[in-house]
Amino acid sequence: MANPLSLYALCGSLRQTSTSRRLLEALSAASPAGVSIEICDFIGDLPIFSPDEEGDRTPAIVTTFAEKIRVADGLIVSCPEYVHGIPGGFKNALDWLVSRDEVPFKPLMFAHASHRGDLVLAQLTDVLQTMSLRIVPEAFLRVPLAGKSDEAQTAMLAEAQESGALRAALDRFTQAILAAA
Ligand SMILES: Cc1cc2nc3c(=O)[nH]c(=O)nc-3n(C[C@H](O)[C@H](O)[C@H](O)COP(=O)(O)O)c2cc1C
Repeated sequence: MANPLSLYALCGSLRQTSTSRRLLEALSAASPAGVSIEICDFIGDLPIFSPDEEGDRTPAIVTTFAEKIRVADGLIVSCPEYVHGIPGGFKNALDWLVSRDEVPFKPLMFAHASHRGDLVLAQLTDVLQTMSLRIVPEAFLRVPLAGKSDEAQTAMLAEAQESGALRAALDRFTQAILAAA
């Protein structure tokens, strides 16, 4: 790839053995030369959002988060469904970005690690489009790891890697990013 692309991945689960995170790690391992994926590891450390804490009072960790997003060529979101919706910690992270200028028109792909959770996908689509992110639907990837044993997850991710499914989703995403550049 002539121009290296850097992607920033956001996981909506804070679980240590999160299947959503595991899928992001597999995507990172499958990324082709010239494409790097960094997974955000401090979403759970962001303070609770308040508009009173924006502007001059913006916490340093939020500025760091926003800067990571600003420099990324695209975002990958992998988020479980909690009670038919977006997990609170992840919605909190998104709320910090609403009044800022990093996210409008930023390309975004979903990597979904459950055979369920279509309600959270619909909600995220609505929220992220309201924030003016550019979701790339053809890059959508679903590997239903949720509820599977560790061994079964390993086998499913190996199959997704060997079949080219992980790489194909990334290729569709990076092509969409480059086509719009
Ligand atoms: C508090 C809570 C609420 C949940 N609510 C739903 C739900 O409404 N619909 C659903 O399909 N799964 C629901 N689940 C299951 C998770 O979405 C599922 O286990 C998911 O794969 C976990 O993702 P992770 O492995 O990345 O943490 C819920 C799980 C938790 C902990």
